[in-house]
Amino acid sequence: MPDAPPHIEPFTITDEHLNTGLRGFPVGTLRTSDVDPMTGVSYVGYPIADLVDLPCEDSIYLLFHKQLPTPEQARAFNADLAKRATVSSDVLAILDKLPRSGHPMEWLIVGLELLGMTGKTKSNDYREDALNLVARTSTLVAAIFRVKQGWGAPIAPRTDLTFHENFAQMLGAPGAHAQLSDLLRVFYLLHQDHEGGNLSTFTGKAVASGNADIYASMAAAMAALYGPRHGRANQECLEFVKQMGSGDANELRERVLKHVKGGGLVPGFGHPVLRAEDPRAKIQYAYGAKHFGDHPLVKTAIALREVVPPILKEHSRTKDPYPNVDAASGSLLSAAGLANPEFYTLLFGWSRVSGISAQIVDERLVMRDGKGVPIYRPRYIAENQPARRR
Ligand code: MLT
Repeated sequence: MPDAPPHIEPFTITDEHLNTGLRGFPVGTLRTSDVDPMTGVSYVGYPIADLVDLPCEDSIYLLFHKQLPTPEQARAFNADLAKRATVSSDVLAILDKLPRSGHPMEWLIVGLELLGMTGKTKSNDYREDALNLVARTSTLVAAIFRVKQGWGAPIAPRTDLTFHENFAQMLGAPGAHAQLSDLLRVFYLLHQDHEGGNLSTFTGKAVASGNADIYASMAAAMAALYGPRHGRANQECLEFVKQMGSGDANELRERVLKHVKGGGLVPGFGHPVLRAEDPRAKIQYAYGAKHFGDHPLVKTAIALREVVPPILKEHSRTKDPYPNVDAASGSLLSAAGLANPEFYTLLFGWSRVSGISAQIVDERLVMRDGKGVPIYRPRYIAENQPARRR
């Protein structure tokens, strides 16, 4: 077998690279996804747009097994996840005691640690714990929706439904649109994985590199996702859409121009890696136009897609003026009956735990011929001492 080509060309790190948030630094390899600046994310080589009709169990299988399942493999995998999805009454009882003032992501972070304390394997079996975590996160997130909003007691998982149908029935959202279940399937697909350097994935892998169990690692990852510069941006996107409040392009142009000239940021537009419209946004705009085209928030979100980029190109220094995964997600969720934006990052976390889990399993059990990636330990240079050459 000829030697594999190098993953990167040699380059020199200079002072200009320091304190930039590791932006663009190649620090490892991954097997689950890739993000091309122009074409966006692909899962195991499949462009996200080619996967848009996939059931969740198929895309979870793809990230864990690095190949799409046969129909029989998908059915067996889904049945296995459904069997793993039960959350103990102890965990649910403690959930009910959490302060209602907490953010749903704070409930998720606590809930993940409760799942770990009550259900992780004694042997810290990353693969077994990962599948349990992905399955139980569906039940936990649905319970957080219901308990925190007073929708009623948590609803148990069933074994006769697909992954997203099971989640939707556990959610039991009052007044849900008929399209909500399928929207949640698409939402899950779009948020699962986005290369290895996004903050939540990187954080989860870093914590796991110390051999912390996957539940503790995932709690850390969700704390990263809770940040308004990362996962919580989708909550702010809906607020912005409501603030702009018009589907008329001319009216919108004036409002956005006034907002940007006044120093306001436009949530949902721009990305540290992408330099073209996020394909995950494209998919949501098309889905919104098809299923919720008459909804005022969706109309505004779709109109912003055309209005915002030219304004950002002219009046900001952004390298990427285009919509990202958050631009329309809240408008679609609201149109489908989940109108509380505080819960949108919780749904992002529901999905992202699958990609982070698959990457943690790869780094702990597969990389470097099964030896695993060593504990993360980058170097920082003391500012008050002359730089030493090593
Ligand atoms: C994500 O999906 O994690 C976001 O687009 C942020 C990122 O990729 O850094």
